[in-house]
Amino acid sequence: MLSLVGVSAGYGGSRVLHALSLRVDDGEIVALVGANGAGKTTTLRTISGVLTPVAGTIEFLGSRVDGRRTSDLVRAGLVHVPEERALFGPLTVEENLRMGAWTRSVLDFDEVYALFPILAERRRQIAETLSGGQQRMLAIGRALMARPRLLMLDEPSTGLAPKLTRAVLDAVLAIRDRGVGVLLVEQNAVQALAIADRAYVLESGSAVLTGTGAELARDDRVRAAYLGGGSL
Ligand SMILES: Nc1ncnc2c1ncn2[C@@H]1O[C@H](COP(=O)(O)OP(=O)(O)O)[C@@H](O)[C@H]1O
Ligand SMILES: [Mg+2]
Repeated sequence: MLSLVGVSAGYGGSRVLHALSLRVDDGEIVALVGANGAGKTTTLRTISGVLTPVAGTIEFLGSRVDGRRTSDLVRAGLVHVPEERALFGPLTVEENLRMGAWTRSVLDFDEVYALFPILAERRRQIAETLSGGQQRMLAIGRALMARPRLLMLDEPSTGLAPKLTRAVLDAVLAIRDRGVGVLLVEQNAVQALAIADRAYVLESGSAVLTGTGAELARDDRVRAAYLGGGSL
């Protein structure tokens, strides 16, 4: 579905990603974990066309997409939910969902409301008055309105209470079970690895370890980096 081969990218003259290669297959949850500053967000920005790689290639559904415009990628089914959520604060829940469907001619809220019943209850509430957890759900729901083939989520559970974290991660599993690929960035590696089919550990802009979620969760190097501090 998605593959990066040897991708290098950064900001102006400063390079953050160094020959990064990774892939997401159909209907997989792939977790990208790594310390603060490892380049996780930069990876998602590069895939979604906000940044243009200086080297390497990105393919999505069989076509080269590096250098393509973000709006074209959304139309092709690649949708990014940034960490900062970027909701339309003064608009209602349902108006935000409607905005997510700008690539489509039909509007169907039912799937999103089935996934996040709280959003149905609050469909007329102003987005900026929702709780943090509800805003995360709305950001994911809005992305789903575009009917993505691949959803990229940047820290969807960071900062949420355990119960809400569970709700968001359960929703990620349900999204995957509907056949949507998910590239999940999380600082909370333990929880991300628990739901991931496969995962990559990113360190200084390169993938230094990969395996199934379960393999990485019991890898001594991963455990040392996340439970004891220090780098891999
Ligand atoms: N807009 C930016 N301009 C310049 N440097 C940036 C910018 N955003 C992030 N960086 C730098 O890129 C590196 C990787 O950041 P980021 O991709 O946000 O990491 P992560 O998401 O893994 O915490 C960091 O050194 C960060 O300071
Ligand atoms: Mg980040």
